[in-house]
Amino acid sequence: MKLPSHGSNPSHVYRNLNLQVPAALTDFSVNINPLGPPAFIRENWENYFQYIEDYPDPHARELIHSISLKEQLPEEMILAGNGAAQLIFLLGEMLRGEEVLIVEPAFSEYKEALRAFGAAISSLVLDERTGWDLDDRIFPAMRGKKAVFLCSPNNPTGKMYSRDMMLQVINAAAEAGTFIICDEAFLDFAEHAPSFAPYITRYPNIIVLKSVTKMYSLAGLRLGYVLAAPPIAAKLLAKQPHWSVNALAQVIGASCMEDSTHASKTRNYVSEERIRVTSELRKTGFTVYPSSVNFYLIDAPQKEGLYRFLLKKGIVARHTENFNGLDGDYLRFSVKTEEENDLLVHALKEWKTC
Ligand SMILES: Cc1ncc(COP(=O)(O)O)c(C=O)c1O
Repeated sequence: MKLPSHGSNPSHVYRNLNLQVPAALTDFSVNINPLGPPAFIRENWENYFQYIEDYPDPHARELIHSISLKEQLPEEMILAGNGAAQLIFLLGEMLRGEEVLIVEPAFSEYKEALRAFGAAISSLVLDERTGWDLDDRIFPAMRGKKAVFLCSPNNPTGKMYSRDMMLQVINAAAEAGTFIICDEAFLDFAEHAPSFAPYITRYPNIIVLKSVTKMYSLAGLRLGYVLAAPPIAAKLLAKQPHWSVNALAQVIGASCMEDSTHASKTRNYVSEERIRVTSELRKTGFTVYPSSVNFYLIDAPQKEGLYRFLLKKGIVARHTENFNGLDGDYLRFSVKTEEENDLLVHALKEWKTC
């Protein structure tokens, strides 16, 4: 089966599988805020027009200043990028030819970026029996590595590693001179989530990745940032193409950094909907795995069978064929609006009874 390596872009999925695109589609494969972008963006849309004509500030100074206030870290520890995806590639370049560990299952771009720059990649594959939690196997696995990619809360499992375990890993890595790259792209969606950004001043081997596209529904606009010790941030900046962050992303991103209401409203909504929809699905007999964020995994009986059944009903799940350790045995769904989540529950009930 020829499937895309990411969520989103549903028409690509239908084309590849030779399926007719239904009149109505609901895309559960993309993990962005179900409430959409914050209201201020639409309200100020006319005003943003002025920013498209000139080149953006190549140093994104106002944006960096806003990030610095939000994260309570100095500006020289921040690099903004064209989505976290661009920053992953800059990290890949920094790790050219090095030995790097990826804790999997994980976002596929880590491997893509590391491969592009000839890193020697190894994997620690977590498994379902421990709820995909981080365990002591990480310590021998990271021995001799230049860096470790860790995603918490994890995409695709939704698992958030404990602060204690992460700190043990960070400590061991600091002694060995290993970078710990913590991808916190989905942290904003989780309640009581430990960010490792405040620890960078004490442990300069921590590099934190943030995405603004998920919480603020700006996947098309593109914005992410990295928080790292000043020499690392400077090294990454030196490799970044000029004007990577467009003018609209700079001005809108700066306003997002001042927001707290959209984020907290979203967190509450997502948490309530996730609890509701996952309990409905469990009642229908699916195994639904616990998640701390805006997506979750279910078991996928007959693998491709269920995926295709849903596609024919206009429901696009995220297949898990290209996640090491999941291998297509699960499907991932984002938490969407109540109405959309009900469509999914209905379709999955139908699958169980047909
Ligand atoms: C774990 C993770 N990190 C980073 C990214 C990239 O996000 P961005 O849209 O900011 O490039 C994604 C996108 O899906 C992701 O899932």
